[in-house]
Amino acid sequence: MVDTPNKDLLKVAQAVRENAYAPYSKFHVGAAILAADGQIYAGCNVENAAYPEGQCAEASAISAMVSGGSLEIRQICIVKKGGGLVAPCGGCRQKINEFAGADVPIFVQGADGALQSYTLGELLPAAFGRNNLEVGT
Ligand code: THU
Repeated sequence: MVDTPNKDLLKVAQAVRENAYAPYSKFHVGAAILAADGQIYAGCNVENAAYPEGQCAEASAISAMVSGGSLEIRQICIVKKGGGLVAPCGGCRQKINEFAGADVPIFVQGADGALQSYTLGELLPAAFGRNNLEVGT
């Protein structure tokens, strides 16, 4: 397990968190991805008056990564404003799984504000992924 995030990952996640558009939940989230191309891609949550249309920070960061031409997550860091626990929702775990292996570290801000490290495999065991679609074809 990787315990140390890329040195810029936390700073980038904290910076993009400032742009979060979260007038409804007031829950401001920033996510930063270190991709296989060595670039860091960032995204924040973007809410909507039609609540289900809102987008999580992780999804925004993944969109930035794919738009930038990269398809492989090496590390991801997720932070919220004001401290306290933030962990990727189930849907975002699945979205991360599309572009990351089970051993990829996910750094999240714990309840005490300190970064905690999990692997994707810990947060999404027995994941359904692209490989499953190849069965029976
Ligand atoms: N949210 C994220 O952006 N990422 C997470 O990992 C958890 C939740 C957002 C969605 C919504 O805009 C707000 O936080 C409250 O759920």
